[in-house]
Amino acid sequence: MKQNNCGARTIMEILIINDQILPLCDAPSACLDRGTFFGDGVYEVLRSYNGKIFALKEHLERFSQSLAAVEITGIDVEQIRQRVLQAYAAAGISNARIYFHATRGSAPREHSWDSNLKPNFLLMVTQLSDETEHKTKGIAVSAHPDWRWKRCDIKSLNLLANVLARRQAAKKSCAEAILVDDQGLITEGASSAFFAIIDGRLQTAPLTANILPSITRKYVIKAAAELGLEIVRNSLSYKQALEADELFIAATTQDIVPVVHFDDKTIGTGRPGKATLLLMEKFRSYVL
Ligand code: PDD
Repeated sequence: MKQNNCGARTIMEILIINDQILPLCDAPSACLDRGTFFGDGVYEVLRSYNGKIFALKEHLERFSQSLAAVEITGIDVEQIRQRVLQAYAAAGISNARIYFHATRGSAPREHSWDSNLKPNFLLMVTQLSDETEHKTKGIAVSAHPDWRWKRCDIKSLNLLANVLARRQAAKKSCAEAILVDDQGLITEGASSAFFAIIDGRLQTAPLTANILPSITRKYVIKAAAELGLEIVRNSLSYKQALEADELFIAATTQDIVPVVHFDDKTIGTGRPGKATLLLMEKFRSYVL
């Protein structure tokens, strides 16, 4: 038997990658990433506006919290800050999406892990798509059951429930899926925070383990406070949302996006609402 990088073996453990067969010990590390086997990793998405990275400090803080929550150790967050800056400068994209993740590391598939495992890190800087039409006309969204786990406050790589919900929304020509829990309460979007304006008040779900502590949400709340809007941190029922004066979603890549149709219901006049437009304008003053 050929000697490989695991040393002399009496048993040949085998791996097939697409149509290539090779001894397991010769597998490229990326093929044995626990991120692929288990979604065992955490991530961040941030962006730049006109050449300036927005809220880097907050994203790195949340990343540290996610790492701690899943016990991934050995990541130097200051080094990640440097990598973000270096990659962003190298890309030269003025409105960029910066994605990065750390997984627990690579090893043959076992649920338990060896504490010596070295985390894997990946970062991408890409061009953001133009969201102007969504932002000026508003989007349609559809409700979907929230099938996710009970620690959605951790920005983990486990996003299967989110992508399936988004797929169902896309089949109905909707830009986002709004997730509804077993009690009929809205948690958040598949990849966004969710807000309503009802009788001049801004309402959104409170920060619990059921939603991501969205960084855009934090700035939306700041904008609302500066505009003198009362802020209600109470989950919205599906029915309440359908009857709201205005709805919008918020996330890093597109900040505030008005929602003008929710399932079969037109929201407000079917055009972005007044308070939403004021919040968008205020938000712009933080980023430009
Ligand atoms: N998603 N809720 C969920 C489930 C999300 O995935 C996101 C963002 C948000 C908004 O969080 P923030 O304001 O910090 O971006 C809320 C990112 C953009 C993504 O997964 O691509």
